[in-house]
Amino acid sequence: MEEKIAQIQKEYLEKISQSTSLKELDGLFLDIFGKNGAVTLLPKDFSKLPEDARKKVGPLFNTLKQELEKAIELKRVDVREESYKKLEGESLDLNEKTDVKSRIGLIHPLDQFEHEIVELFSKIGFQQYDAPQIDTDDFNFELLNIPAEHPARDLWDTLYIDNKPQTTSNKLLLRTHTSNAQIRILREYKPPIRMMVLGRCFRHENIDARHEHTFDQFEIVYVDKNLSMANLQYLSEYFLKSVLGEDTKVRLRPKYYPFVEPGVGIDGICIFCKGKGCKVCGGVGWLEVAGAGMMHPQVLKNGGVDPKIYTGIAWGPGLERILMLKHGINDLRLFRSGNLRFLEKFK
Ligand code: PHE
Repeated sequence: MEEKIAQIQKEYLEKISQSTSLKELDGLFLDIFGKNGAVTLLPKDFSKLPEDARKKVGPLFNTLKQELEKAIELKRVDVREESYKKLEGESLDLNEKTDVKSRIGLIHPLDQFEHEIVELFSKIGFQQYDAPQIDTDDFNFELLNIPAEHPARDLWDTLYIDNKPQTTSNKLLLRTHTSNAQIRILREYKPPIRMMVLGRCFRHENIDARHEHTFDQFEIVYVDKNLSMANLQYLSEYFLKSVLGEDTKVRLRPKYYPFVEPGVGIDGICIFCKGKGCKVCGGVGWLEVAGAGMMHPQVLKNGGVDPKIYTGIAWGPGLERILMLKHGINDLRLFRSGNLRFLEKFK
């Protein structure tokens, strides 16, 4: 029996000292102290021994147990230290050159276009104004002559934010146009006013190549004495010719908007069919790029401006529509698709 104990001791001390991982040590622990482990099974044979031999073997057994436990414990510490040392030796060089091709990012085409517009209109004295994307029913509709039951609301169906109690002055919605800035501007500044508003708008749309639920608009609010449709025509041509090229054709067409009188739709000639009519322009030959008009006297009044003294021009193109014309893009949804192959064309 003493020999057996000595043999187990020798065998396992050796195995423990040779092991190199925590996993290996866990395995050895089970081999020694598990249900059928070498040490666990030893006492079974003790009962067969004569009394005095048993007395001798008992302490030897206890020593063996403690010795092996201790050896495993110490080896665990060694193995851990060893693996930390290895990690210290390994370093990650973030500047290291790899074979992965690096890509250069770019400003999103819509942002690029916004910068271009700001530059164009700063030159002729317009300042930038920021209006909220979540706004009240009042600024988006009511004060622009679009009361609750007005049929024109169908045009601008949007997403309402459920906030009770709901009066028009605190009923919140996602703005449907940058025209929500008109009253805010009139109330904040005294004429003469030359402001431009750029930003994201939202609508409850049937989505197709020309319509998206989220899109960008640009709005001009120009208030001064004696402004007329001639100024509006000039602004439209100044803008579309600068952006699309001198040979672009622009037309104004009568169109109804409750907050302007008279109102116009501004069309650019369809570059896909050169005015003949195709799928992109819906067979019309022209693409509507903006709504505009002389600010309605009631809107000026709502903003605290006397319509007997002042006149105003409001003018609001959709940015994606114009970029479609400019770059020959036949689907407006591409702008927000996150498609890198599309976006990288704007480098
Ligand atoms: N806000 C209108 C729209 O979203 C466009 C518009 C702007 C019309 C300014 C007239 C004046 O369609």
